[in-house]
Parts: sequence; structure tokens; C-alpha cells
Amino acid sequence: MSDLDPRQRTDTDSDDDLQLRPRHMAEFIGQRTVVDNLRIFIQAARNRGEALDHVLLYGPPGLGKTTLANIISQEMGTELRSTSGPIIERKDDLAAILTDLKAGDVLFIDEVHRLNRIVEECLYPALEDRKIDIIIGEGPHAKSIKLEVAPFTLVGATTRAGMLSAPLRSRFGITQRLQFYSLDEMARIVKRSAQILGCTVEEDALHVIASRSRGTPRIANRLLRRVRDIAEVLHSGRITAEVAGKALAMLEVDERGLDAQDRAFLEALIGKFGGGPVGLNTLAVSLSEDDDTLIDMVEPYLIQVGFLARTPRGRVATAAAYEHLGLRPPAIPESAQEPELFGFGDEST
Ligand SMILES: Nc1ncnc2c1ncn2[C@@H]1O[C@H](COP(=O)(O)OP(=O)(O)OP(=O)(O)O)[C@@H](O)[C@H]1O
Ligand SMILES: [Mg+2]
Repeated sequence: MSDLDPRQRTDTDSDDDLQLRPRHMAEFIGQRTVVDNLRIFIQAARNRGEALDHVLLYGPPGLGKTTLANIISQEMGTELRSTSGPIIERKDDLAAILTDLKAGDVLFIDEVHRLNRIVEECLYPALEDRKIDIIIGEGPHAKSIKLEVAPFTLVGATTRAGMLSAPLRSRFGITQRLQFYSLDEMARIVKRSAQILGCTVEEDALHVIASRSRGTPRIANRLLRRVRDIAEVLHSGRITAEVAGKALAMLEVDERGLDAQDRAFLEALIGKFGGGPVGLNTLAVSLSEDDDTLIDMVEPYLIQVGFLARTPRGRVATAAAYEHLGLRPPAIPESAQEPELFGFGDEST
């Protein structure tokens, strides 16, 4: 854990989340490509006795970016300092953090796309030459001095790789994208969490919870806890497929894992805007949500399951979305046929 000023800690996870968080690479389920790549780069850096190159982790919320940052420092045998983009307001804040790092330390900056430009520019020389320029004094007596920074690894995490400035992006030697997890991986994650929480979940119930967790471990863990509550209070405590199904229905999570917010999104898109195309902001206003919540929390999964397409003219509901809501799809507009993938530069509204 970081030994920075506690106000600079970004870990808002409850003790329960920390309890369920994998600590080692071997405990981290899924994301094979990312894990295999990181293992090699970590081992190579360790063999050479060097700090690992800077790492950018990106992808939708709850897939394991913060977890991986912790695991990287653990596997490197170094300390992790964590902070986040919006917390570092001034150059001095960054200088204080950087000059406090020891050789090999991992500096984790969550929401790295939200660093302000002045701070970001001050970070560049630290990343490249391990030097920072700071100004001492004011007015005519001010002078600029260069300070050395220990060799360190920046691990940046973002849900919006497209919002990272090109100069910052290019300074990460390792860029890895996290994907939604497969059903099988999700079932293993639910099983592991159930073991840690000490609750009994039958094999087919694992799949019921896994299949409704939107390919996202954080959601799986949250649903598991709520299903456990319902199983303990209304049933015998044992989580069977039937109990899990009933509990998830009470939680308003449907068979595809869509919750009330996801359905409200699709219903607005189809009911108010004829299925689109409609601009994100218009949709957000009609749902009383902000754009960021929709971009980060709602859209990636709807795109992944093929219910939503982002087109140059706006958001479009696919035929599958109509069918999911029990509606008859109109003739599909051509623009909806090739959904964009989630990746760099795709967050434009
Ligand atoms: N591969 C995994 N195996 C098991 N559990 C996982 C895995 N990845 C994530 N988790 C669980 O999901 C929770 C959320 O993961 P994490 O906080 O790392 O996500 P994140 O990508 O940093 O999300 P955000 O973008 O919201 O910061 C963790 O507390 C952990 O318990
Ligand atoms: Mg995180």
C-alpha cells in the first residue's frame, strides 16, 4: 500500500474489495495475453536489475487495472505509490511524489488521462531522463533547478485511452488493453470469490452469476455478495442456480447481465429517438446522466454484446437490442451494421 499522504490515496474500495483482490500474477484469472506479456517484461527487467518500462493499462472499469498495478509492484519486489490524475493539481505536488520514489518503485497514476497539462509536461522529462525541473523562489529571484529522480516505473490506468495526449501515450513502453472476461473466466472468478467469502455456491449457480456479470469481475463480486445476502435471509444460505436466478431477478439484472440503467439507456434510445442515430449528449440529458457515466459504465458492454453501435452520426440500437427488449426491429440502417470496437480514439461523442 502507498505510504503517500492518505489524502492522495485513490483506493476507495471497501475492505471486502481488498479481500477479494488477487495479490499475485498466479491468482489473477484471465487476460492471458496481458498477463503473459507482463510476466516476460517483468522477468526481463528483473534479470537486468532495471526498473520495468512504463506501463499503460486501459479498458472499461472493474476489469483489473488497479489490481494489476499492485501485482506488478509485488512481482517486481518494489513498493507501490498510488495516486490519481485529478489529485495531482500542481507541478510541486508531482515533484514531491517523484523525488520521494526509491529505485524500482512503481508509481501508479489512476485516471492518468485527467492529469492537467502543466503537470503532464513536468512528467515527461522524469519519464525519459529521470529529471525534473523545478522553480525555486518567486519573481526576479526565481531560478530553475534540475532534480534527479530514481529509476521508477509509471503504471498509468485509464478507461479512456483516446483522451490521453499523444506525447504522454508515446512515453509508455508497454501498453496493454484489458478485455471483458469470458464466461468461463468469470465462473472461475466467482468461484474464487465465493471461497474467500466462505459461501457455498453450486456449480451451475456459478454460471448463473458469471453470465450476468457483464464480463466484469467487480460486478461479479458485487452480485455475489448481494446474492449471498438474499440466499442467507430468504433461503437456506446455500446458493443454488434457482436461488441465484431469483436473487438476480430481485436485483433487476436480466439474463444478459443488463441492469435497470442499461435497459433505461436502450429504452430511451429506441423509445424516444427511434433507435437513433442520436448524439450521446442528447441521450445523456434525456436520462439525467452525465456523458462520462454512459461512456464508461454503460456503453462498452452494450457494444460488446452487440446491442449498440457508435456511428459517426450518433448512437444506434441494433436489431439484437430490439429483440432483447421484446420489440420488433425496424429495417436495420446500414450505419448500425458495423459496431466500432472499444479502443484508442473511440470515445468521441
Ligand atoms: N483477473 C481477476 N481475477 C480475479 N478478480 C479480479 C480480477 N480482476 C479484477 N478482479 C476483482 O475485481 C475488482 C475490481 O478490479 P480493479 O479495481 O482492479 O478494476 P479497475 O480496472 O482498476 O477498475 P476502475 O477502472 O474502476 O478503476 C478487484 O477488487 C478484484 O477483486
Ligand atoms: Mg482502478
